[in-house]
Amino acid sequence: MSASIDLSVIHVPVMVDEIVEGLQLKAGGIWVDCTVGDGGHSRTILEKTSPGGYLIGFDKDNQALRVAKQELKDFEGRIELVQGSYAGMLQPLNQARTGLVDGILFDLGISSRQVDESGYGLSFNRSETLDMRFDKSQDLMAMDVINEYGFEDLSRIFKEYGEERYSKRIARKIIDSRPISTTDELADLVNTCVRKDASGRHPATRVFQALRIEVNQELEDLYAGLESALTALKVQGRMAVISYHSLEDRIVKNFMRDKSKACQCAKAIPVCVCEALQRLRLVNRKVIKPSVNELDRNRRSRSARLRVAEKIG
Ligand SMILES: C[S@@+](CC[C@H](N)C(=O)[O-])C[C@H]1O[C@@H](n2cnc3c(N)ncnc32)[C@H](O)[C@@H]1O
Repeated sequence: MSASIDLSVIHVPVMVDEIVEGLQLKAGGIWVDCTVGDGGHSRTILEKTSPGGYLIGFDKDNQALRVAKQELKDFEGRIELVQGSYAGMLQPLNQARTGLVDGILFDLGISSRQVDESGYGLSFNRSETLDMRFDKSQDLMAMDVINEYGFEDLSRIFKEYGEERYSKRIARKIIDSRPISTTDELADLVNTCVRKDASGRHPATRVFQALRIEVNQELEDLYAGLESALTALKVQGRMAVISYHSLEDRIVKNFMRDKSKACQCAKAIPVCVCEALQRLRLVNRKVIKPSVNELDRNRRSRSARLRVAEKIG
């Protein structure tokens, strides 16, 4: 990862108009960007909430925050950037004494800069150390998972987090080929185990996704982050979540659906015993996808799916 900032690989934010509409951005207020990345969505939030809007932004990746700080320098005094997981957002929000917030954005996964810039080990198109950490102060790297996990755990993460049908075959081959320390070694190995599908995607896409999710504890963070967001929002505040694969989207969809149900007792129980409170209202019944125009402009937006919910209690 280079010390200088390469502007040619800056991430292009997706579904920006839909976020403006979904979060109902307006002047003033306190806003949270859980995944600041290179600051694209944060910039829009700051512009649309001017004057007076204040943004607290999180990212696990220090390099992303360096880029964002540079990109958002015009908004000094209206922004606070926090290095760390959005899963732990409540403590920094309490410290900042913001009170409950008006809107929260999650733009999950990885930025295109993290794929394109060397040092992350997230791309199978370059030979690099199998790292994959967003937070470089963390110990666990993808290389450790590949070289130290047993057969059961490896095949489980490939199946669960990558939805990889050849998970066992790949896990066996990895164990037989250890040590493996670079992205291209792993990509070549997967290539020999997996039949190319019609999508034209690289055969190692699913395994790389699974490893990244495991290394960064992405699904655990998402569960915790959604709960924290619900706590942090004021009534009538909104959360907008952009996900990029079915595992993430399922978690978001189920969370929003469960929190928008008044009573969660089984139909067979005549009187409510769960005492569930309806906390959210679904703003859109159906998931929102990028427009044709955006798909033409930015191919990387093609898997983005947006869900928005409003806190009602
Ligand atoms: C798709 S990018 C966000 C791009 C951003 N919206 C923009 O406009 O540039 C996702 C970002 O989330 C960060 N990230 C992933 N998991 C995180 C977590 N649990 N807490 C904080 N940041 C996280 C990644 O490091 C990455 O920078």
